[in-house]
Amino acid sequence: MEKTPQSRRSFLTSLTLLLASGGLLVRYLMPRSAGNRRVLASAAAADVPLGGALLFRSERIILLRKDTGFYALSLICTHLGCTVTVTENGLACPCHGSLFDRQGKVLKGPADRALIQLPVEEHGERIDVLG
Ligand code: FES
Repeated sequence: MEKTPQSRRSFLTSLTLLLASGGLLVRYLMPRSAGNRRVLASAAAADVPLGGALLFRSERIILLRKDTGFYALSLICTHLGCTVTVTENGLACPCHGSLFDRQGKVLKGPADRALIQLPVEEHGERIDVLG
């Protein structure tokens, strides 16, 4: 059987598809470095009192302050992804009743994993929550 020579156009199309899929594969497999993180929310330090918190409702993030500094939690419930709300009893999920403490630890299920803690950077008076 004789092989038909590949046309230039189909060769270039194949090469383009190969390079594009290779680039996507590399991007998928490479771990995210800290330099690639983006700012999800930002606040003035003075807006978060000691022992208090600042809620970023649309970003589903809460920025909290304790005596040792700032930390942030994702308000995406680790059970099935509903938005956790702030209540007087702690951080409560309205969907199935999970309850988390101020550190994000599970107080009551069905969630069995703590809320995700997000990295925080302090830049003088500005606090950035990174994702
Ligand atoms: S999604 Fe939060 S408890 Fe189920």
